[in-house]
Amino acid sequence: MVEKAIVARNLKKFFGSTVAVNGVTFEVKSGEIYGFLGPNGAGKTTTLRMLTGILKPTSGKAEILGLDVFKHPLQVKEKIGVVPDEPNMYDNLTGREFLEFIGSVFSMKKEEMNERISELCNAFDVNFLSKFIGDYSHGMRQKLMLVSVLMRRPKVLFLDEPTVGLDAKSAKILKMLLRKYADEGAAIFMTTHVLEIAEKMCDRIGIINEGKLIVEGTLNELRQRSKKESLEDIFLSLTGEDELREVIDNL
Ligand SMILES: Nc1ncnc2c1ncn2[C@@H]1O[C@H](COP(=O)(O)OP(=O)(O)OP(=O)(O)O)[C@@H](O)[C@H]1O
Ligand SMILES: [Mg+2]
Repeated sequence: MVEKAIVARNLKKFFGSTVAVNGVTFEVKSGEIYGFLGPNGAGKTTTLRMLTGILKPTSGKAEILGLDVFKHPLQVKEKIGVVPDEPNMYDNLTGREFLEFIGSVFSMKKEEMNERISELCNAFDVNFLSKFIGDYSHGMRQKLMLVSVLMRRPKVLFLDEPTVGLDAKSAKILKMLLRKYADEGAAIFMTTHVLEIAEKMCDRIGIINEGKLIVEGTLNELRQRSKKESLEDIFLSLTGEDELREVIDNL
């Protein structure tokens, strides 16, 4: 098992004069779920895009299972699965056509693919594969995207706000599945705004604010460092939103 499944080394991304990510360094090991937290606009999605080869960093390094993301783009894409926050798929395909297309791109055996599709569709209550994706709701798109990624059993998984738009049952199943995959050796990087999810699911948590990783560790380590109990209090104090109560008092 490769220890360092995901490596971000001093990653920076500037959009004109906007500094979206300002020197982020961390590692995720195989078997680990890493939660990436931060306020809106902190740089979470931009970091995920650089690690998955969608966006070229201004500087710094991204590695997946020892491979440089920009030197070996195809090998990296074979090994990773990415669930973006806004699933963009082919509206003119049916759900099943899309899954079969993904299966063929990744050279999946038909029998194995069909078995995985039926297991995952069962788990997520996906009973709309014969409909066109263009007619799907946000949650339906998200579920189809999850099935298309999880059916490949990638060794490294990236998920951007994976539970947003999912109903309670599907969110619960996703959480259980991710834990199972991690226990089987997958490395999982997920962004979330839902502190409870980070608290319950993630082995380690990184908090990013204004493009900088300001703290990182297990929940217990974060508690010790900040002398606060709940992740909500840790998060709010670290991201400079302590004045929240004052603002609300003044409303
Ligand atoms: N393509 C782009 N062009 C210009 N600026 C961008 C682009 N993508 C992101 N940014 C800027 O980079 C910063 C970080 O954005 P990013 O999407 O990474 O934040 P985020 O942490 O994912 O936020 P959210 O929690 O709202 O999803 C923001 O200031 C955003 O406006
Ligand atoms: Mg985002």
